[in-house]
Amino acid sequence: LIVPSVLEMVKEKNLTTVPSRYVRSDQEKPELLDDSSLSSEIPLIDMKRLCSVSAMDSELQKLDLACKDWGFFQLINHGIDSSFLDKLETEAQDFFNLSMEEKKKLWQRNGEFEGFGQVNVVSEDQKLDWGDMFILTTQPIRSRKSHLFSKLPPSFRETVETYSSEVKNIAKILFAKMANVLEIKREEMEDLFDDVWQSIKINYYPPCPQPDQVIGLTPHSDAAGLTILLQVNQVEGLQIKKDGKWVVVKPLLHALVVNVGEILEIITNGRYRSVEHRAVVNSEKERLSIAMFHSPGKETVIGPAKSLAEKHQKQRLFKNMTTQEFFDAFFTQKLNGKSHLDDLM
Ligand code: SIN
Ligand code: FE2
Repeated sequence: LIVPSVLEMVKEKNLTTVPSRYVRSDQEKPELLDDSSLSSEIPLIDMKRLCSVSAMDSELQKLDLACKDWGFFQLINHGIDSSFLDKLETEAQDFFNLSMEEKKKLWQRNGEFEGFGQVNVVSEDQKLDWGDMFILTTQPIRSRKSHLFSKLPPSFRETVETYSSEVKNIAKILFAKMANVLEIKREEMEDLFDDVWQSIKINYYPPCPQPDQVIGLTPHSDAAGLTILLQVNQVEGLQIKKDGKWVVVKPLLHALVVNVGEILEIITNGRYRSVEHRAVVNSEKERLSIAMFHSPGKETVIGPAKSLAEKHQKQRLFKNMTTQEFFDAFFTQKLNGKSHLDDLM
């Protein structure tokens, strides 16, 4: 199933209208939000405070509330160098602007998930998202696909490798802090994410002549434990569902957007929530975002943390299964348009 590159389409043709494959039904069309919908700001967590002993408690409580009420927060003072993030931005831009001939060498192979391409495309008459993406497993290192890694531009590859290990460390610290505040045993959380499975997804949304007719990224919730996202070039587009309404996550220079995925919802027995989100596009400027997903290793058994369930003597809301089994269920049911968490209870 060949999905056209939106970027190539925009480059080649001087589009004034959107091809029908991208035009959404009336219910799906995003009413574009104006600045008034920014009134509710998503929580801001300061990583330095979170890690310092003195101020730790209040920041921990903020983290806990953010994960319960919003499922999303912006992380500042995370320690990744700003100039490094700028370099990542430039190199990611350049990567998507490689010639089609170069990019074809990195295209998804039959039935594979990694490379340039799309996810969840199952039929010729399905509506498509207004964007291109590139996906790669980055951790554990033994799981990296060498046929893709070896074809990345060398400097970009190095940048991705560095970013991967820095973001992985941040994720591990956040998991530890969450365990701390939820009173999940430290070793239990560490065991879950010891062999962390991390993948990167770079989203490139070209400008669109009719942004109110399309969706950049279909509403979804993430399967992962934690997603750490960089809204690379400061262009707005990410929206999250809060109390039934879409709220804009305003890009904050060099901040990381962190969100709870379904695996973390399972581990915390529903205390932390995986929240629906989407991306919309605009007519003026392309938008880039880089998501890093962190999940337990594929063979690791996931379920509500034992220490949590014992302590609160609450019913376990989810069954045990391996990460791989969870992912298989997640993607099958998503294609059937169902909420998979319902079936795992
Ligand atoms: C995502 O959900 O993977 C990315 C959303 C965005 O582009 O901001
Ligand atoms: Fe997402």
